[in-house]
Amino acid sequence: MNVLELKKNFYSIGYVDHALKVFDVAVLTEEGTSYNSYLLKTSEGTVVWETVKAPFVDTYLEHLQAVSSAQDIKYLFVTHTEPDHSGSIARLLDLNPNITIVASTPALTNLTHILRRPFKQMVMNPAKPFSFGGYTFQFVSGLMLHWPDVMFTYIPELKVLISCDAFGGHFASDAMLLSKEPDQKGYYEAVDYYFDHIMAPFANFIVPACDRVEKLDLDMICPGHGPVIDQDVQKQIQIYRERAKKFLPVNDSNHVTIVYASAYGYTRTMAEYLRDRLLQDGKKVSFYEIDAINYEKERNAILDDIRTSGMLLLGSPTLVGDAISLFYELLSHITWTIGQGKKASAFGDYGWSGEAVKNLSDRLTQLHFKVIPGFRYPFALDEEGKNELAAYYETLK
Ligand SMILES: Cc1cc2nc3c(=O)[nH]c(=O)nc-3n(C[C@H](O)[C@H](O)[C@H](O)COP(=O)(O)O)c2cc1C
Ligand SMILES: [Fe+2]
Ligand SMILES: [Fe+2]
Repeated sequence: MNVLELKKNFYSIGYVDHALKVFDVAVLTEEGTSYNSYLLKTSEGTVVWETVKAPFVDTYLEHLQAVSSAQDIKYLFVTHTEPDHSGSIARLLDLNPNITIVASTPALTNLTHILRRPFKQMVMNPAKPFSFGGYTFQFVSGLMLHWPDVMFTYIPELKVLISCDAFGGHFASDAMLLSKEPDQKGYYEAVDYYFDHIMAPFANFIVPACDRVEKLDLDMICPGHGPVIDQDVQKQIQIYRERAKKFLPVNDSNHVTIVYASAYGYTRTMAEYLRDRLLQDGKKVSFYEIDAINYEKERNAILDDIRTSGMLLLGSPTLVGDAISLFYELLSHITWTIGQGKKASAFGDYGWSGEAVKNLSDRLTQLHFKVIPGFRYPFALDEEGKNELAAYYETLK
C-alpha cells in the first residue's frame, strides 16, 4: 500500500502507477508515474490536497481510509484541475458533500465544468493565508505552470510546499521519497523529460515562481507526480530555475532567423538577398537551408535561434499546393509563448498557384507572431521581381 507518513500527521496517499506508458497523448512515461495526494490530520478535521486519476479511485479511497476517512475531510485543496489530479473529486463529494474545495479562481471555474454539480468552495488568495487546525496555509501563485489555474500551498509549520506539477516528473517510485529512491539517475532524467515536454513553454512564468518559492523556509517539496523531494530542496529549486532559463523567449531585435528550402534555387535567391540586406544593416542573421536530410540535424539549433531572435523569416516554394511539410514540422515545436511579440514573415517562389506564403503566414499568426505580409514571385526574378523584393525588405524593418 503506497501510504507514507511524511511528517507528523502529514501523509502521502496517492497512487503509484507503474503501468502508464503514455501521458496526455504525446508524453512518454517509460518510468510510469504517480498521482500524488497529501493528507493532513488536524485537531479540527482532515485536509487533503489533490485526488488521483479516476480509474484509480478505489485504491485511493483505501489509502485515505488507512489514515483518515472521507467523512473527516473538511477541506480539499486543489492546486490544479487537470483530471490526473481532479479525477476522483466527484467520488469524494459523493461520500462527503460537505467538503469545501479550496482552489484558485480559474480552478474553481474549471471544477464547475468538470464536476457539473454545486459544491462548497473557497478561493485561494496568495495575499490571504488561511489558518485551520493549528496550521497556516499560504498560497503561492504558480499560475501558468503549466495550466492557468495552478496555486501552490506552503505550510510554514511543516516547512512543506505542495507544488502541483512543478518540480516533479513522471516517475513511479515505491520509495515515495527522493532520498530513499535507488534510481536517482532515472529520476532526474524523468524530471528533465517532464520539464522539456510539459513545462518548457512556460519558462517565463517558471523563473518568477522559483523566485517566490526560494524565499520560503522549506525542507520538503510535495509535487503532483514522482517521489516527494526531501533532499537538497534549495538546490532543486535552483536547478529548476536554470533549466527554465534555457527555454526563456528572448526578443533580440538585432537577431533575425531565416529558414528556407528551395528545389531549384529560386527561393534561395530570395533568401540570400534578404540575408545580405540584413547583414548590410548590421543585423545578426542565423541562416538555414533545410531539406529532408539535414532538417533533423539542424532542428534544435533552428528552434534555439527562433527562441532568441526578434524576427523569423520562412522561405518556402509552393509544392503541391502548400509550403513544404518540413516547415509545419518545425512550427509544431513552437508555442505561442515563443511567438508572442516577435516579428515574422514568409516568402517563397511558386509556379502557378503559390499557396505557401499565405499558408505559412496563417500558421505564424496562429502562433501569435506579429506577421508582416509576405512576398511571393513566380519562377525567376526579373527587374520587377527584384524591385518588389527590395520593397518587401523595407517592410520588414
Ligand atoms: C513537385 C512540384 C510540385 C509543385 N506544385 C506547385 C503548386 O502546387 N503550385 C505552385 O504554384 N507551384 C508548384 N510548383 C512549382 C514551384 O513552386 C516552382 O517551380 C518554384 O519556382 C520552385 O521554387 P524553388 O526553386 O525555390 O524550389 C511545384 C513544383 C514541383 C517541383
Ligand atoms: Fe498537469
Ligand atoms: Fe499532473
